[in-house]
Amino acid sequence: MLRSVLLYLSEQKRLQDFVLGWKFARKLSRRFVAGETLDEAIAVVRTLNARGMDVTFDHLGESVASEAQADDATDDYIRILDRLAAESEAKATISIKPTQIGLAIDRDLCLRNMRRLAEAARAQGNFVRMDMEASCYVDATLSVFYELFDEYKNIGAVIQSYLRRSEEDVRELARRAAPVRLCKGAYKEPATLAFRKRREIDGSYLRLLEILMASQSPVAIATHDDLMIDVGKRLIREHGERESHVEFQMLYGVRRDLQARLVEEGYGMRIYVPYGNEWYPYFMRRMAERPANLLFVLRALVGK
Ligand code: FDA
Repeated sequence: MLRSVLLYLSEQKRLQDFVLGWKFARKLSRRFVAGETLDEAIAVVRTLNARGMDVTFDHLGESVASEAQADDATDDYIRILDRLAAESEAKATISIKPTQIGLAIDRDLCLRNMRRLAEAARAQGNFVRMDMEASCYVDATLSVFYELFDEYKNIGAVIQSYLRRSEEDVRELARRAAPVRLCKGAYKEPATLAFRKRREIDGSYLRLLEILMASQSPVAIATHDDLMIDVGKRLIREHGERESHVEFQMLYGVRRDLQARLVEEGYGMRIYVPYGNEWYPYFMRRMAERPANLLFVLRALVGK
């Protein structure tokens, strides 16, 4: 119930405008967002790299309304890639939202921009992950991905275990040995398309993980859930030869103790580091995932 309310609020533009203008809220967002500028975010990358963690950058921003905005967002990412190429002590890949580079306007606009990103990243030996958004975008996202993957092997897809369709998608991605990040899914979806019960979402996650681990796909186990992580570790042991193609991924600011522990144990760990001034929907989805995080906000408000 609270999750649905928070997800609903995450989509409210007027509330967003109000919260973004509130200095204290900006300060709070820093728990999950690395900063508003690239310089601030690069400083965070350096710290994480020094702790043995890899990073993927998310330049915050979601669905854009015009072709020019989609092109601008793509240019921004190319600038990030250029900056990363020039940094000797900050290494990171990038994660993009397909609607940020035009998917909600026109599939071919997204294809064109994604090709520019894949090309720029390839020239620098870097990698681009296409995040997965709401279910209405899954077909188009995967079609852009498949079209480019034939040509660019430095791109990866994301699969959400809450979607009923995901097993079919995972089998297709595994057949192509395409890189897959497996997550549970963060959007509000109808029961016809998505599992609702935790037991079903987790069961689906574990099934999909088994399929991926038995394939040649590089796998990113994106979760903070102890059970998924334990099964992931067991599968890494069982498929020892795949170890270097498997990593855990977690969100910046979430379960930092566990992130450090997995690094100590020798597992690959990549932190998803969002930055930028459009942090509101991202921040609200993190609240929805774990309403206990609201306590952190309330405590900060009271202690203010
Ligand atoms: P679950 O939500 O069941 O949480 C398990 C435990 O983890 C909780 O009990 C709590 O202890 C801890 N935890 C989880 N979330 C927390 C939070 N916000 N704050 C504090 N503790 C928390 N989704 C999507 O739809 N498309 C995408 O492209 C991506 N990409 C992505 C990349 C990476 C690297 C990660 C880690 C996640 C995503 N997600 C995503 C988000 C994902 O779908 C999901 O919403 C969150 O990861 C939460 O799910 P968990 O697997 O952590 O399990």
